[in-house]
Amino acid sequence: MITFDNVKLLEQTNELKALLTIVRDRETERSDFIFYSDRIIRLLVEEGLNYLPCISKQIETPTGAVYSGLKFGGKICGVSIMRAGEAMEQGLRECCRSVRIGKILIQRDEETALPKLYYAKLPQDISDRYVLLLDPMLATGGTCKKAIQVLIEHGVPEENVIFLNLIAAPEGIKAIHSSYPKVQIVTAEIDQGLDEKKYISPGLGDFGCRYFGTD
Ligand code: URA
Repeated sequence: MITFDNVKLLEQTNELKALLTIVRDRETERSDFIFYSDRIIRLLVEEGLNYLPCISKQIETPTGAVYSGLKFGGKICGVSIMRAGEAMEQGLRECCRSVRIGKILIQRDEETALPKLYYAKLPQDISDRYVLLLDPMLATGGTCKKAIQVLIEHGVPEENVIFLNLIAAPEGIKAIHSSYPKVQIVTAEIDQGLDEKKYISPGLGDFGCRYFGTD
């Protein structure tokens, strides 16, 4: 298997493989697609939290013994790339109560064919935060790169961006790392590549349409 710097592939357990098999299956109905995608998203968020800085903390347990542990240091926020990334917001909220979540809408400009920013609403102090960037499918990487550019323009250091993603194409990983090598990518599986329509193959089709029930 090819490995990439700054990519954390979730541990390929039988449980994860079984979850991915359900969401990739074209016969899976929407309620199951949502339920099992949410389970994978939860695993991604839990793994992404490992990239936040921690500081030592000693506490006393009810037995009177001292336990040398850790606590999170540093503030976080989420930023979802609309629309599919919004499906990952709930999983983030389940792990980080009352987390601030910004949104970015990027679409292909019909004239230039380049990704264009249409909307960004971000926490006002985002430059002081670690950012969990949310988008389930990493295909060419064009949208994700544009989103990272927006974050950097808002003062977020590149190394403070943790991109959470269900399925990644090698093309997208390479595109991100050639421009933003310090961004950490956390993904559940890396696929073979892109097909002629720029869909990830084998992939799972259009994540947003399957999750939100649209065509
Ligand atoms: N977005 C999707 O939803 N699926 C892909 O395969 C690529 C981008």
